[in-house]
Amino acid sequence: MTHILHLDSSPRGSRSVSRSLTKEFVAGWLQSHPSDRITYRDIGKYPVPPVDEAWIAASFSKSEPLASELTNALRVSDELIDELLIADRYVFGIPMYNFSVPANFKAYIDQIVRVERTFTPNWQGLVTNKKMLIITTRGGSYFNAPSSKQLDFQEPYLRAIFEFVGITDITFIHAENLTMGDEARERSLTTARTAIQSLISAW
Ligand SMILES: Cc1cc2nc3c(=O)[nH]c(=O)nc-3n(C[C@H](O)[C@H](O)[C@H](O)COP(=O)(O)O)c2cc1C
Repeated sequence: MTHILHLDSSPRGSRSVSRSLTKEFVAGWLQSHPSDRITYRDIGKYPVPPVDEAWIAASFSKSEPLASELTNALRVSDELIDELLIADRYVFGIPMYNFSVPANFKAYIDQIVRVERTFTPNWQGLVTNKKMLIITTRGGSYFNAPSSKQLDFQEPYLRAIFEFVGITDITFIHAENLTMGDEARERSLTTARTAIQSLISAW
């Protein structure tokens, strides 16, 4: 049995394309793997807090055990990291915002990238033997567009940060041109859906 962490980060509900695509992948996956387990996390609707001074003090504290206020400061982070470590695979839906990730996804990253929990002091990743699918949604086009490819700070950043914590097997499916007219949008959605169906049989 594989345990999948399905995470959505769009603040939009039924209008969100990334939500509909991650849902499509997970529904298709469950059809062929009905006994797999899914944990769902919605940071678009229920954002995680940014790290604060107590979080930073607690995460770098050398005292064992931590004082109770420091333990409290890491409660959300501990919950998110436990959820990440216990899953085998990840299906993340992440819109492109301002050429990168939405602030709520960055807040999630700041909570889960933590010394001694997801990487060692000498920068060895601790989240190993995992597979990750990231479905991105974008108004414009970057993937096959030489003139705007350099504006894609989303995929390179996501690859770098997840590889840093040890997740090296990462597949991206980009749904692009979503605000470039009906024809371009539909063409891109068809391509993304085809990639989703192929990955369901090959992941
Ligand atoms: C605040 C904001 C910033 C955005 N920035 C970009 C951008 O830099 N590049 C781009 O191609 N699309 C951008 N978009 C368009 C979204 O990526 C696109 O609408 C996508 O479908 C959003 O994902 P969702 O449908 O899951 O909500 C932006 C949208 C919003 C709301």
